[in-house]
Amino acid sequence: MSGHTKAVNTLAITNKFCFSGSNDRTVRAWSLENGYCTGVLDTQESPVLSLAVKKNVLYSSNTDGMLKSYNTTTHRSIQSFQGHTNKITVFTLDNKENLFSGSSDCSIKLWNLKDSSWKQTYNAHSDYITDLISAHKSSTLYSSSVDTTAIAWDIESGRKKLTFKGHKDWIFSMLLDKSKKTLYTSSQDRMVKMWDIRSGSCAHTLFGHEYGIVKMILNQNILYTASWDGRIGVYNLKKPRQLPTFLEGHSGKIRTLSKYGDYLYSGGNDCTIRVWSCKTLKCKAVLKGHKKPVTAIYIPNKNLTLSIGEERRIYRWPSHHVVDSNSKQELETLTKKEKQKISLKRDHAYDLGSKIIEKQIEININGQKFKVSSKLNILEACRKVGFEIEALCYHPSLGPVGTCKCCIVDVKSVSKQSFQRACACATELWEGMEIKTDSPKVREQLMSAVADLRKKQKNRNLLSKMVGIEKVNNSNHLMEEYIKNGEKRFKKSKNGKKQKKKVIVADENDTMLDNLIERVSNKFIDTTNLAIQVDHTKCIDCTRCIAACSNIQGMDIYSYDPPTTMNDFNSAESLMPAFNTKGKFLGDTLCISCGQCSLYCPSGAITEIDHTQKLDAVMKSKKKLVVVGMAPSARISMSEIFKLAPGSLTTGQCVHLLRLLGFNQVFDVQFAADLTIMEEGTELLHRMNDKENSVLPMFTSCCPGWVNLVEKKYPEIIPHLSSCKSPQQMFGSVIKNYYAKRLNLDPKDIYCVTVMPCTAKKKELDRPQFRNPKTGVKEVDLCLTVREMGRMVAKRGIEFSELEEREFDNPLGFSTGAAQLFASSGGVMEAALRSAYWLQKGVEFPSIEFKPVRSRKGIKESVIDFDGTPLRLAVVSGGKNIHKFLETWGTSSFNYDFIEIMACPDGCIGGGGQPRSNLDINPLRKQVVYQNENKLPSRSSYQNPLVKRLYKDWLKKPYDKVALKYLHTTYEPYKYSDQPQTDENSDKFHKLNEGLTWKNSYLILYGSQTGTAEKASLKIADKIRSLKYKVRIKEMNEYGQPIKLKHEKLVFLITSTFWDGSFPENALKFWHKLKELQPMSLTKLKFCVFGLGSSTYTQFNNAAKNLDQKFIELGAKKVLEIGLSNREDKNGYLTTLNPWLKDIQPLLKKNKKSRWRK
Ligand SMILES: Cc1cc2nc3c(=O)[nH]c(=O)nc-3n(C[C@H](O)[C@H](O)[C@H](O)COP(=O)(O)O)c2cc1C
Ligand code: SF4
Ligand code: SF4
Ligand code: SF4
Ligand code: FES
Repeated sequence: MSGHTKAVNTLAITNKFCFSGSNDRTVRAWSLENGYCTGVLDTQESPVLSLAVKKNVLYSSNTDGMLKSYNTTTHRSIQSFQGHTNKITVFTLDNKENLFSGSSDCSIKLWNLKDSSWKQTYNAHSDYITDLISAHKSSTLYSSSVDTTAIAWDIESGRKKLTFKGHKDWIFSMLLDKSKKTLYTSSQDRMVKMWDIRSGSCAHTLFGHEYGIVKMILNQNILYTASWDGRIGVYNLKKPRQLPTFLEGHSGKIRTLSKYGDYLYSGGNDCTIRVWSCKTLKCKAVLKGHKKPVTAIYIPNKNLTLSIGEERRIYRWPSHHVVDSNSKQELETLTKKEKQKISLKRDHAYDLGSKIIEKQIEININGQKFKVSSKLNILEACRKVGFEIEALCYHPSLGPVGTCKCCIVDVKSVSKQSFQRACACATELWEGMEIKTDSPKVREQLMSAVADLRKKQKNRNLLSKMVGIEKVNNSNHLMEEYIKNGEKRFKKSKNGKKQKKKVIVADENDTMLDNLIERVSNKFIDTTNLAIQVDHTKCIDCTRCIAACSNIQGMDIYSYDPPTTMNDFNSAESLMPAFNTKGKFLGDTLCISCGQCSLYCPSGAITEIDHTQKLDAVMKSKKKLVVVGMAPSARISMSEIFKLAPGSLTTGQCVHLLRLLGFNQVFDVQFAADLTIMEEGTELLHRMNDKENSVLPMFTSCCPGWVNLVEKKYPEIIPHLSSCKSPQQMFGSVIKNYYAKRLNLDPKDIYCVTVMPCTAKKKELDRPQFRNPKTGVKEVDLCLTVREMGRMVAKRGIEFSELEEREFDNPLGFSTGAAQLFASSGGVMEAALRSAYWLQKGVEFPSIEFKPVRSRKGIKESVIDFDGTPLRLAVVSGGKNIHKFLETWGTSSFNYDFIEIMACPDGCIGGGGQPRSNLDINPLRKQVVYQNENKLPSRSSYQNPLVKRLYKDWLKKPYDKVALKYLHTTYEPYKYSDQPQTDENSDKFHKLNEGLTWKNSYLILYGSQTGTAEKASLKIADKIRSLKYKVRIKEMNEYGQPIKLKHEKLVFLITSTFWDGSFPENALKFWHKLKELQPMSLTKLKFCVFGLGSSTYTQFNNAAKNLDQKFIELGAKKVLEIGLSNREDKNGYLTTLNPWLKDIQPLLKKNKKSRWRK
């Protein structure tokens, strides 16, 4: 349950809701049914420390010493209790309308709940209060304190009755056993004391623990104690002198202990929750998932456990499910794999689905009455009946989080006395609810919310500038749009008068700590993923990206917690965005580049990496024939960019548009989709008919997001993945290998571009498999998302709606209905079946519209009779569904023959590069796919005359020699390191570099594809060492952020040039990051470049020349002329390197400091 922006301290639970209090000062309500945040009750003046519920009232305490109460149904605030001068550490409620609060001001106060009046103060403790128990029958209040004592008070008079003295250190907690007249106190001094509450004497002391005891649970004659020594003590109180039995397993302090039924739940600093059987005293399960120490566990019912830690989210666990599923087996007897399975069963907030009962209720919006469904929240209801409310953090597919505060409306309180502000996205409706969306107060709130968000961005932006990072793209996407809409909404008030614009200006003068700059500098703009980029300066902390990545894709790449290095710096934390990639660059995580986070980010902080400028440059140079292919779903969503009705088919207009943008040839990627089907269908038949040499099930491979997932998380599936290239790469291969020949052009003189709904395809085209192994020429040179294309059109000022329709160019401009189906999940399966059936039997597939795969379900299954053989099919879309589907992978219950998988929900129509929308828009797009498919003249790929011609002229037969060479590919498991990629631990030459830093050594950075530049670098290092100087050597990509170079004295940059004048792979990431730096940001650095290349290539030593130029732009001082070696020279690169090495000696001599000396 995600939404808090700082650690959650406490929970309180009712039948329907879980309330949480956090360091971010808010009190939130969460539906227990589905885990949604249903409202922010309040934003208090200081962090909320504890919560408690009694009857219909929720009580909270905060660090300012304030108590507040709220109605648990309406979530309205009721009263506040003011009196303490310091934080309230503990409070308790009794049956007599009394509330006792203990504070770090050392006092205890008694409040009357009826009128929130203060009734009594109990003063005697000399340090803060740790626990309170009220026993009203005897009119006694027990308190314990850090001052090592516990006291019994007379509630009425406030006088001290007894003092329990004996502990040597502070008392953590107390328990009262009235039947035995015993008070138990547990202390930091490692002991539990049992006190006679009549005399105040200590009856027994319980020993055994090695560190403090934080929590106790009493069950008849058994006392369970949780200790910082990592053990739970089980004391038999009938034999108090006997040492306890210990439950051992935690590897750090235990911080909390709860009991439900016959199970104990303990959580602690090792970030796990352990479930113990009280009967067998064995550990039944370990719940892993918390990233930080677990501080409290709550078990509202049999099926649900909630836990909090030093984190910003609340974890939901299907508690008894975990335990019961293994009730016969103790954890100790399980295999390692089984243990892992249990530990991974962490539930997500959205798993349970909404079960709210729907009925029609009457509400009043701005004076008008409407009947709406009780299932809606205020925001949805207002939008439904035509009142627009700007909402930034809310999206119908992600659920409410309540962080942006833009959607504030006025709601009349239940008592009908006054209007109060409420988050429209996170407040449920009630019968007769009165809502105002356009009052001056609401307007003011909207403006101030926007100003707050702007201020956040400005501060981050300011900080990024201070560390020398150039901003890439300044558009603010939805945010800008909302601000404009918000302005429009308030231009006229109800009485028709124009309101005066009152814009609250953000305060820009916030100071920032210098010493934080270094730490945060690496985190601002991250382009390492090559498909999507994260510009943290634009983030407004809405947390949509986390919800998209975790709840929709099940990838959990982002987390709320700042990297551990940031822990000690609260002010930096407030400047850090609400999310992070767990201390890594996005490119070093398991991110599959699906772009779902970029689809939902409303502020432009996460976007695709923009390639429009690169394309402009290529077009302007007019050196190449620039061809473009449009993906199946782009023609459906493009209209949305131009504000036409969602789900309009605009194929002809798009073709026209692409021509106007300057493409020389406009082709249809659907043609390549038909080709994919021919290959994939044949491969399936091949696998079915040759079971000895091939494996089933076969998974589709047309989605690069899914291919990334296989390579990164499920490498064991690789043999099952169809070897077919995706339509994008088949298109590129046909262009560069077939079309180029037809035109008599060198493939490198054709620039192949695609327009895709997808961000993963931007990265796909960079795979080494998709380059010519000899020439390095890429099949596809550049991929634009639909959004990027929209931006290009907007820049040129083309009016889309007025464009006439145009036809695609040939020979790659004709496609069938089957290819159109690729746009939607289930489409590849349907298309493949049509052709495979024909290929097998020579007749058309009987049910051409294969309805079982057309629904919107995330996992669809079916069995068909395929020429007498049952063919078991599955269609899965969306990351989270994929993980769920693959849970049984490798077991006998995973029983399929052919499986279509798409990484995005609903397939490419829901792709990460599609236009952003605040609607659940995929059904509208899907509808158009099937309508259009139906209208196309041919509906099966084998009927495509141009495909037939391609086989005749070039490929000969599907899945045959030529086709296998040009249209099929290979996959490799991803080498993933769980360690954060830092300068130190990712070092290939760590032995040589041991003990060396920028403070005492020179640096050699190299880029090498096949090892020659690496050898040259080692030679240079040898030379420097022979001159008795210290030197480090690193691959460029391993260096981390190039901004760090500003600390270095002198850097030797050695690189070869590869592919078409590009950098070797181990230098590419470094080069991309280098390009993001602001000019003149490395003014103190000295550098020299040595290049390795071959004069047989036109782009001779291009990479080295680019580096040399870039470092000059960055203000670094060139101390030696660039060395440009040629592989074709008699001694290869040594011909140039040897004289170059002679020149480096004088550069080193100037540095005489002894620590630089070897
Ligand atoms: C596929 C391929 C593409 C190449 N492209 C270029 C090029 O565009 N420009 C150039 O100067 N050298 C080019 N070269 C030559 C390499 O830079 C040269 O072989 C160098 O020594 C390789 O160094 P490395 O092993 O460190 O990568 C290319 C070599 C290959 C095999
Ligand atoms: S691209 Fe996909 S996997 Fe990567 S962070 Fe975004 S949502 Fe998660
Ligand atoms: S990156 Fe975007 S989606 Fe994520 S929290 Fe920031 S503004 Fe929201
Ligand atoms: S489903 Fe489509 S848009 Fe999404 S990653 Fe796969 S190919 Fe790209
Ligand atoms: S708080 Fe409701 S949309 Fe952000």
